[in-house]
Amino acid sequence: MGSDYSHRPVQIENVLKFLITNPDGIYVDGTLGEGGHALEILSRLTRNGILIGIERDEEQLEIARKRLKNFHEKARFIHGNFADIDTIVRDLGIDSMDGILLDLGLSSYQIERSGRGFSFMRDEPLDMRMDKTQQMSAFELINNASYEQLKDIIKKFGEEKMAGRISRRIIRQREKAPIRSSKQLSEIIHSVVKGADYKMSKNPATRTFQAIRIAVNRELENLKEFLNKVPELINKGGRLVILSYHSLEDRIVKRAIKEWEKGCTCPPDIPVCICNGKVKFRAITRKGLRASQEEIRANPRARSSILRAAERV
Ligand SMILES: C[S@@+](CC[C@H](N)C(=O)[O-])C[C@H]1O[C@@H](n2cnc3c(N)ncnc32)[C@H](O)[C@@H]1O
Repeated sequence: MGSDYSHRPVQIENVLKFLITNPDGIYVDGTLGEGGHALEILSRLTRNGILIGIERDEEQLEIARKRLKNFHEKARFIHGNFADIDTIVRDLGIDSMDGILLDLGLSSYQIERSGRGFSFMRDEPLDMRMDKTQQMSAFELINNASYEQLKDIIKKFGEEKMAGRISRRIIRQREKAPIRSSKQLSEIIHSVVKGADYKMSKNPATRTFQAIRIAVNRELENLKEFLNKVPELINKGGRLVILSYHSLEDRIVKRAIKEWEKGCTCPPDIPVCICNGKVKFRAITRKGLRASQEEIRANPRARSSILRAAERV
């Protein structure tokens, strides 16, 4: 275990600018990861400020806890899922906060050092669980899901045009012997894509690996559940900042902010509002913000980042 912390946290200047409105305030980092964003946030809070770091990966949480050891007085570390943010903060005696940050997806530790098969570049057991206390792993999904389930997952979460052919090949392979490693899965995908006329700007395994990971960790369901809870948790004038890394996530965040900005959700043909919906947030970023070329050069992971921020009204 260990980390080199060689990269600056993604879009850190934007995150700090949009997130912190009150240095004495209470903040939540719902995806603590290596603690990169958290360290910068904690450095800007006064001794009255508090940062609650939530992380579903226990190994990762321990790494962050050690990295942030100088801030233990104003930091709380919770092993949990940001989808449960309401109960997590309530258990700490907190009703509402000044800002919440989510930096979605995987950490560098998980991809490069966790040994859980997140990367098609490595030969590791197929696991892909962010939270190892959870039951379902990529091994179980790949070796037990039906053809229809696999195809649906790879198509929906990977936006993969060849989902059907890849799923069929997975089924054929696992009839011979269980598929146990990330390398085996990657080779199966390559064997399907190689023969096809397919424009390849990325490694062909990228999309399927993303899809399996999203399904195993229920990433989109967690994000939706979290967004449903957020309006009740942020103080007036407080901020929500979310960094997404693919269009499926970003679309969910964008839609939620749009709904909150609308307030009334009555059908357009109703002459007077009957839903009593109130405007909950105003978007601070009209368009999702991208990292600068300079940041992308220094940290290629920032390339796909899209930042959206909104203020509670
Ligand atoms: C991109 S990393 C965060 C990196 C962090 N911002 C930093 O600067 O070091 C995303 C982290 O969020 C965690 N994560 C993903 N989904 C989560 C969830 N639903 N609840 C809690 N943590 C989650 C992952 O385990 C991973 O460690």
